[in-house]
Amino acid sequence: VSLQPLNSFGIAARASTLVRVRSEADVRAVLRDAELAASPKLVLGGGSNIVLTGDVKATVLKVELPGRRVLQESEHHTLVEAGAGENWHDFVTWTLDQGLPGLENLALIPGTVGAAPVQNIGAYGLELQDRFHELDAIDLVTGEVFTLNAAQCGFGYRDSVFKHVAAQPGGFGLAGRALILRVRFVLPKVWQPVLGYLDIERRMQDDGVAHPTPRQLYDWIVAIRRAKLPDPAVIGNAGSFFKNPTVTPEQCADIIGRDPKVVHYPMPDGSVKLAAGWLIDACGWKGKSVGNAAVYERQALVLVNRGGTANPATGGEVMTLAKAIQTSVYERFGIRLEPEPLVV
Ligand code: EPU
Repeated sequence: VSLQPLNSFGIAARASTLVRVRSEADVRAVLRDAELAASPKLVLGGGSNIVLTGDVKATVLKVELPGRRVLQESEHHTLVEAGAGENWHDFVTWTLDQGLPGLENLALIPGTVGAAPVQNIGAYGLELQDRFHELDAIDLVTGEVFTLNAAQCGFGYRDSVFKHVAAQPGGFGLAGRALILRVRFVLPKVWQPVLGYLDIERRMQDDGVAHPTPRQLYDWIVAIRRAKLPDPAVIGNAGSFFKNPTVTPEQCADIIGRDPKVVHYPMPDGSVKLAAGWLIDACGWKGKSVGNAAVYERQALVLVNRGGTANPATGGEVMTLAKAIQTSVYERFGIRLEPEPLVV
């Protein structure tokens, strides 16, 4: 099976076995098959946060579980639920159509609802964990369905238990061990816009709007993303390729001493987050390429596939480019950038 149409980078890797999961019963059928049950599993959502460096030996479970509904209303909150296979952006749009704002800062993020908790998607001052209630997942060994709350998901910056492998003794982690079935969100009845992000403030000034409606904020976020980030349907990519690194205030002061313009954000815990895109840009990477893998001209944190579907970048080219970027950022700033997407 070709995985090329199933990953947003458009890398031409193959899988020997791919199962489309449209119900819990589909997962149980896999577990009843002796051969499939014993093989390692790769759970795939929209394929928008993955780099395939070769053919996939694991059984690929492509999640296509549908459904979205309003579950419950209380005095202060509304609970909504969506199937893991729902498109994330369509789900966000649907909540607004229902008159249930709260997710608008996360508009236009590619991928599925089920993948959103895996990397705790975040943008423009909001993270999935801020609106998360709980999720149901199915154990890929026992077939049992279980529910996890936010604490049990172990959310961090672009991180959760679903990104860690369980194998190590004493280690936690559910990667390859669980498949998320559906996710429930808690949306506040009294809506407060999440503003404060520089790009949003600029739009507020340009449009002369001091108190945006949820729809206005949604429209701005969509416009900001379109201006900066390549549409994966047009130019293959997996969003930000590296996480924004965190340094101590001393390290940051040292970098500012040499590069006064470094973009940095003080964090509540006293550490300082640096804009990886700025660091990469400062090393002169914008527009550079290895084979058909390239650094996006408008956002140095995004690596793109310049070869389209006919002559796509290989996973090897993407990783060679990524390693060269890591080396040059390390040599200039002493900072090790960590890849953000899952490298398979
Ligand atoms: N910058 C440059 N040159 C560049 C790119 C960025 O100087 O080539 C500077 C910008 O001018 C800005 C700063 O770096 O001052 C930060 O850039 P931006 O606002 O574009 O955000 P980011 O830190 O690069 C993060 C997330 C994005 C998310 C945006 C908005 C990560 C790894 N990335 O990007 O998430 O959309 O903030 O909140 O945290 C993703 O995870 O795939 C993703 C796109």
